[in-house]
Amino acid sequence: MTSEPTSEGTSEPTSEATSEGTTSHDIPLPDGLARAIAEDWEPAPRMPHPASPSGDPAAGVASYAKNRAQLSAALPGALVVVPAGVAKVRANDTDFAFRASSAFNWLTGETVEGAVLVLAPTGAGSHRASLYVREYAGPGEAGYFTNRRYGALWVGNVPSVVETSEVLGLEVRPLSELAADVRGLGREQVMTLPGLDPLVDDLLPGAAGSASSELLKRTIDELRLVKDEWEISQLQAACDATTRGFTDVVAEIPAVLAAGGRRGERWLEGTFWRRARKEGNDVGYTSIVGAGRHATTLHWWRNDGDLAEGQLLLADMGVEVDSLYTADVTRTMPVSGQWTPAQRQLYVAVLEAQQAGIGEVRAGADFLAAHRAAMWVLADHLHSWGILPVTADVSCGDDVEAPGAGLHRRYTLHGVSHLLGLDVHDCAAARDETYRNGNLAAGCVLTVEPGLYFQPNDLSVPAEWRGIGIRIEDDILVTDGDPVNLSGALPREPDEITAWMRDAQSRPVTP
Ligand code: GLY
Ligand code: MN
Repeated sequence: MTSEPTSEGTSEPTSEATSEGTTSHDIPLPDGLARAIAEDWEPAPRMPHPASPSGDPAAGVASYAKNRAQLSAALPGALVVVPAGVAKVRANDTDFAFRASSAFNWLTGETVEGAVLVLAPTGAGSHRASLYVREYAGPGEAGYFTNRRYGALWVGNVPSVVETSEVLGLEVRPLSELAADVRGLGREQVMTLPGLDPLVDDLLPGAAGSASSELLKRTIDELRLVKDEWEISQLQAACDATTRGFTDVVAEIPAVLAAGGRRGERWLEGTFWRRARKEGNDVGYTSIVGAGRHATTLHWWRNDGDLAEGQLLLADMGVEVDSLYTADVTRTMPVSGQWTPAQRQLYVAVLEAQQAGIGEVRAGADFLAAHRAAMWVLADHLHSWGILPVTADVSCGDDVEAPGAGLHRRYTLHGVSHLLGLDVHDCAAARDETYRNGNLAAGCVLTVEPGLYFQPNDLSVPAEWRGIGIRIEDDILVTDGDPVNLSGALPREPDEITAWMRDAQSRPVTP
């Protein structure tokens, strides 16, 4: 990155050029020079809207419009303000890549930083939707050459108000008019999501921690529990891209080993990330790439371990597509392409548990049914191997979630399912009665991801099993009939896994 000109010495504001509290040491731009540089420009080239590179209406427009209508019906009379959020500082004057808040994206399909959706109540009991987007400084405007955040020369010429309106199919207005417009609206019941955008927080003080903001969060997340056809198509696309990313990873294992395996986890993490960036927006969460005993660390995000023959590799990775829906998939595989008998024995137990769990996924079932079924299978195996002192039939007091007196939890560690959608752990603000203690409905998508983890320092398991971690995770669509495995293109049976590895390693990775 080169140094930037600043607007010091000109009439241009610098406040937008860097984040608050950060400092730039770039070379000042004298007034005369700024005036000279400001001349002789054509309009800056437009960037296509990310939701529609062709400029046509975005594919999900009907879905987003329906989402707004549902929220409007759920909150009659309320003024609702939902921000996309602003970029977070990574280091001094550089930011993390921006990702719009999921609630905002679910209502608009928009992904740009700083945008704000306003649902203003109409007398007729519905709402008028207006999306406010920032207009970036172009040639002839203050900041074109000097504003590193919002100058088109710096960051590209984001789609205009008009283009955004055409692509997203809703009224779009300049962000500069947001404050005046909101102040002009009635304020009897105002709802926003605080903490995302200081501009909105200043405009609507007192929202943080308020009952109304909690209600808005909860209402949106409960409306997001059931996915429509567009959302399911996006989750399928995310799973398909994820399948290709896993195949890239498997294909590169021999090259990593041939190079000595040093920091092989990082190489493979990067391999998957390349696929995620090529086919989508990013990874949907920090990839977990754990070789050997690192597979027993649930959130192994450092990914700085070596790769070696004989280990198991646990990879938990998901592509987030451009519409921001994400997959969340885990496969565990033998690095050398061949299972040891012990690895296979433990793997098959986890696979049986996963199949039992997936078998419970159908409309009307308890959300926790998959968890109970999978835990019962694992507790049963743990007892048969002499690790659990009691059979799976023994519950833990009143706790029906706890076969084998709950002692299996030492080795299974986590719940088997969470909902999936725009967020990897979707619908987090939904109430227990609609989520964890609720029933599944057709259109819900959830993971089924049992695991067995024998920590390297766990004296309660045979020494030769210590340091083995296995998880198998798929993304399951609930229907009125059989569950649909959206990530089922990735093999799970142990022999299918090794055949897939051989096949992937027999051909070059294709972009
Ligand atoms: N795959 C990451 C998680 O579910 O926590
Ligand atoms: Mn998961």
